[in-house]
Amino acid sequence: MENLKKLVVYYSLEGNTKLIAEAIASETGADLLELKPIKDVSPTGFMRFVWGGKQVMFKERPELQPVNVKIEDYDVIYMGSPVWAGSYAPAFNTFFNNHQIIGKKIGLFGCYGGQEGKLFINYRNQLEGNEIIGEIGFKNPLTLSKQESQLRAKEWAKKY
Ligand SMILES: Cc1cc2nc3c(=O)[nH]c(=O)nc-3n(C[C@H](O)[C@H](O)[C@H](O)COP(=O)(O)O)c2cc1C
Repeated sequence: MENLKKLVVYYSLEGNTKLIAEAIASETGADLLELKPIKDVSPTGFMRFVWGGKQVMFKERPELQPVNVKIEDYDVIYMGSPVWAGSYAPAFNTFFNNHQIIGKKIGLFGCYGGQEGKLFINYRNQLEGNEIIGEIGFKNPLTLSKQESQLRAKEWAKKY
């Protein structure tokens, strides 16, 4: 899929998903779009689990910093999120609400501390009308397996 226009859309609170997003972008030449809530939970301290988990439970849509990217211009979109309370991070609630994603090739990736939970299932439910070309998960790559994870992400992404 050499001539296709590619985008990596991701959210990352603690840097793991960012690591993978950047590896995919560097391998595929994709543009990068980081979803950044204007008011985000603190990346340190136990309270991040409480506030972050609450946002997932109540399906909150945190307002995102404005971006200058036209999603409809892209053919292939890689989407990545940490697993929060078994799903994608709430920034993606806002993303899905703000953009109609249809007719794209979609690669899904995610990072988690324990298990991927319903991350990919919930992504797929939001992405009907698109072709899911692959999905891949990483367990805390920044601390557990940085270089191996970067390589695995690149090997995965270049297939598509
Ligand atoms: C609010 C919150 C909820 C989380 N919930 C889960 C979870 O349900 N399952 C899991 O395996 N990890 C969970 N984690 C751990 C993260 O998914 C994991 O640390 C991930 O690598 C972080 O990615 P990031 O550095 O891109 O933010 C949670 C982390 C936070 C902050």
